Amino acid sequence: MKTNLSIANPAEVETECLVAVVLDRGEKDQTEVTVETGDAAVKEAAREVIASGEVTGKSLETTLLHHPGKLKAKRLLLVGGGKARNFSHLELRKLAGAAVRTLKARGLRGFAFVAPSGLGAGDAVKAIVEGAFVGNFDPDYYKSDRKDQKIDTLTVVTGGDQTGLQRAMDDACIVGESQNFTRDLVNEPSNRMTPTILAERAKKMAQEVGLKCEVYGADKIKELKMGAFWSVAQGSDEPPALIVLRYEPAGAPEKPVLGLVGKGITFDTGGISIKPADGMEKMKYDMAGGATMIGVMRAIALLKPKRKITAIICATENMPSGKAQKPGDVQIAMSGKSIEIINTDAEGRLVLADGLFYARQLGCTHLIDAATLTGAVVVALGYVNAGIFANDESMYDGFSRALAKAGEKMWRLPLDDEYKEVIKSNIADIVNSGGRWGGSITAAMFLKEFAEDTPWIHLDIAGTAWTEEAKPWIAKGPSGIAVRALVEFAKEFAG
Ligand code: BES
Ligand code: MN
Ligand code: ZN
Repeated sequence: MKTNLSIANPAEVETECLVAVVLDRGEKDQTEVTVETGDAAVKEAAREVIASGEVTGKSLETTLLHHPGKLKAKRLLLVGGGKARNFSHLELRKLAGAAVRTLKARGLRGFAFVAPSGLGAGDAVKAIVEGAFVGNFDPDYYKSDRKDQKIDTLTVVTGGDQTGLQRAMDDACIVGESQNFTRDLVNEPSNRMTPTILAERAKKMAQEVGLKCEVYGADKIKELKMGAFWSVAQGSDEPPALIVLRYEPAGAPEKPVLGLVGKGITFDTGGISIKPADGMEKMKYDMAGGATMIGVMRAIALLKPKRKITAIICATENMPSGKAQKPGDVQIAMSGKSIEIINTDAEGRLVLADGLFYARQLGCTHLIDAATLTGAVVVALGYVNAGIFANDESMYDGFSRALAKAGEKMWRLPLDDEYKEVIKSNIADIVNSGGRWGGSITAAMFLKEFAEDTPWIHLDIAGTAWTEEAKPWIAKGPSGIAVRALVEFAKEFAG
């Protein structure tokens, strides 16, 4: 999708469709609908339909008018943003996504969105562009009758300092494209997204944007003594891949170095502790954490923050086979800790244990991992918020600022020492499953053993990496959650 900035009067913009936000400025139960623009001609074009009472300003309500008054636009789409006092860039992202999905379904290829006056112009441009990219993605790649119906050109109509706003727009495009790059990877089924293919996609992307990319196989994993990672990989005929992406800009200080570690299970059958057949097909998205980090590195390479950043993706299948590990087995992680395997389906924490330790060995001073780690996080937070865990307050504070800027939803869960009780083992240092209660917390406690005293954040995206139901602003399927927040964090990390 191409994007243009226009500082023209909205009424003068020649486009297939002009999109304007309408808000409800009424107190309590009353409604008072206003069009969010200073342009008198746009207000006049919307006056009659608003006076009719058909437009309420309700969130995500859409009203399409043809031949709108004196406007040069062929159509005017009014999108409701709800009560004015609750309106923010979060809501605006959804409206932009909804406008894209409404108009592309009608066969339009381009439109112009009028940035609402209430928000800062830079924030508005960013939200509109990022939201539009989210809406423009559809996971219909394998449908023979797919229409390839996409919006090709988005114009954002706004006032303000053009150079600053152009920069905001360019950055937002990079982030939007990177989020969709991640979603493409996540969408692929496991026969078309093996660890080898994931590594190839990462390599190709790295070449395009100028990142270093190393890919290691089973030999190196064994040589590094990654016993936890290998314990999962050993059960599959499909070779594992340890993917390392490095961003080392000229002039960046030696320290700090941000390490991004992703769970790349390209299919999770559960292994010998096999999962029920019902819903198992969804476990193709168990590499979403890894795909997130690959997308984030793409954005970082293009946005060029002045800090070293390294991503490590531990990619393998989790399969039952004659070579697969069995419950009761004891594995020695790269850090030297011994792990008693209680449940082979708790494989994500095993690959991440070695990924986190390796990141520290490569010199990372701060760590963030992203993983579709537990069903328990879905029980705790549903499909709305991802789970955040942190062992360092200042890193957590930085990450929550990044979340707010990115307009993503995550909620912090605790890491009290008391939770450690349930991951104690009789015969080894630690078990890989703490059982049912507080399952996402005990999984995080397990990871904490490998982050040790390095400032670390863990994102459990099991409930949020896949949108279960289509929404007006996003298709059903891979969501690309955490890409935007991680990019914001990387920018913030660079100061
Ligand atoms: N990949 C799953 C977690 C998951 C569940 C992701 C639902 C997406 C949607 C993970 O490897 C897993 O199987 N976790 C187990 C852990 C348990 C055995 C301790 C779980 O959550 O049931
Ligand atoms: Mn599993
Ligand atoms: Zn898994």
